[in-house]
Amino acid sequence: MLFKEKKGWEIPEQRITEEAFFRNRRDLIKCIGGTTGLFAATAMVPAALASQNTDQKYQATRNERYKFSRTLTDEFDATTYNNFYEFGSHKSIYKAAQALKTSPWSITIDGLVDNPKKLDWDDLLSQLPIEERVYRHRCVEAWSMIVPWIGFPLASLISLVKPLSNAKYIVLETIMDKDAMPGLRQHWYPWPYTEGLTLDEAGNELAFMATGVYGKKLPKQMGAPVRLVVPWKYGFKSIKSVVRITFTDKRPVSFWEKLQPKEYGFWANVNPKVDHPRWSQARERTLSGQTIPTQLFNGYAEFVAQLYEDKKSENLFR
Ligand code: MTE
Repeated sequence: MLFKEKKGWEIPEQRITEEAFFRNRRDLIKCIGGTTGLFAATAMVPAALASQNTDQKYQATRNERYKFSRTLTDEFDATTYNNFYEFGSHKSIYKAAQALKTSPWSITIDGLVDNPKKLDWDDLLSQLPIEERVYRHRCVEAWSMIVPWIGFPLASLISLVKPLSNAKYIVLETIMDKDAMPGLRQHWYPWPYTEGLTLDEAGNELAFMATGVYGKKLPKQMGAPVRLVVPWKYGFKSIKSVVRITFTDKRPVSFWEKLQPKEYGFWANVNPKVDHPRWSQARERTLSGQTIPTQLFNGYAEFVAQLYEDKKSENLFR
């Protein structure tokens, strides 16, 4: 995947891991250096993250079914170290992302469904019960975090449109806002950003649509107003700022697979034993700077392993 340079999907492994360390808060403060730097770093937070209000609507009850063993990632780290290529191919896009207009917002649900819909996001949100789920997130680049998402199961959205019997996959698509998103000018990327799931995956209890995080409205850099969260898969499957969900009978080829099919596939399930062609997936570096072993299905095998029992001939882990 890309970081600082244009065609960064060609960069070597050590650049990726170095950057993960570089951008964690402690190192950022070290880099800025001294007391002035520290003040500069902390002063930056409220201005850049000001739009993340603490609306009561995002104070949801935590669903304790989804356990986690490590401490939550620091909110500053999770909200200032992001992948959102529409705003740039580096990690510090959180300020640029504030240009995205997230209201009004609608989601079109179409394709092989009985009841296609264009849903007004604010209306929908006022009707759906929300909950908090703490999930592990494992990026294919080998960094990870643990964050408290707020939202609802993807299955609740699917049930609104009644898929037809020949529907097998869904394709999700990110907004293309040319005025707000400078990354869209990088013409070598196959915009719009799209991702896909089988209908079984989409209906799995873990598949979640997040609209908040850390008890607040989802910040724009994390995919406001609504993004997918599929924690057993590499992070690139968790598409941000979704405007369309299309049901289809053909397996979709999504953004990263179009760009680099030898490295990124449809399934992208986390597996420490299947390396990326250019780096090991055995371990991961948390945004707080620890290196820990990666787990099969990112630790969610009990929920999802059965989805793949009849698919052993597929390349399930890239
Ligand atoms: N969605 C869109 N539209 N554009 C992106 O560049 N990056 C993906 C995913 N969703 C991406 C995206 C990748 S590679 C990761 S690891 C996660 O978002 C990062 O989510 P975060 O920035 O909230 O940590």
